[in-house]
Amino acid sequence: MHERGFLHRYFLNNGGKRLHKWIHYFDIYERHFARFRQRPITMLEIGVHGGGSLQMWRDYFAPGSTIVGIDINPDCKQHEGDNIRIHIGSQNDPEFLHEVAERYGRFDILLDDGSHVNAHVITSFETLYPRVAEDGVYLVEDMHTSYWPKWGGGLGKPGSFIEYAKRRIDDLNAAHVRKGLEVSAFTRSTDSIIFYDSVVVFEKRPQGARQHLKTFAMPPERDAEG
Ligand SMILES: C[S@@+](CC[C@H](N)C(=O)[O-])C[C@H]1O[C@@H](n2cnc3c(N)ncnc32)[C@H](O)[C@@H]1O
Repeated sequence: MHERGFLHRYFLNNGGKRLHKWIHYFDIYERHFARFRQRPITMLEIGVHGGGSLQMWRDYFAPGSTIVGIDINPDCKQHEGDNIRIHIGSQNDPEFLHEVAERYGRFDILLDDGSHVNAHVITSFETLYPRVAEDGVYLVEDMHTSYWPKWGGGLGKPGSFIEYAKRRIDDLNAAHVRKGLEVSAFTRSTDSIIFYDSVVVFEKRPQGARQHLKTFAMPPERDAEG
């Protein structure tokens, strides 16, 4: 049994590489990532910066896990080593993302902490969501930029990631839509979408045909004398 709070404590006691996270993210990470600690996994984080978060993931997940980082800044290559792989390129370049994904097969966890430019986040999601394992998780953070014009956001603005994610709620329910929306690969592969302050989490799980049943108490049998 793994203890809760590992990541929060790790962050507060970090004497290693630079690590930059909002405090309320740690509970969210533990809630969605804890189930992956039992076996070696493959994780991709977009946005390496000081390399601290990649080290944290390596220490959190089972030995033998592969932690992959993507960053546009070539200096980030220095953070490669010991089950940590770094690829230099833009999260807004589908060809680059496909090349990286081809090397690793499926990712159990994908975390987007890159440019936070809304168009980039959408490009990455569209390219990499199908590369996440069928029981995997895709977590996008710092989505307050969905409300900030400099990042291509704005309240209710088409093209912001929050608006994009809201549309995915319709896709999740597409099996019930009579007209105007088809069941998609997203519908068939997504279990839930969870919205937090600045964070959106997509939990994958193969979805079968929807069923509903009725169960009820049978009327008591009359006793023989009654
Ligand atoms: C918030 S920092 C990442 C912090 C790191 N994940 C951590 O927790 O300490 C964002 C990183 O995204 C990178 N970045 C900016 N634009 C990018 C792009 N288009 N593609 C990939 N990475 C990008 C920056 O170079 C920077 O290192």
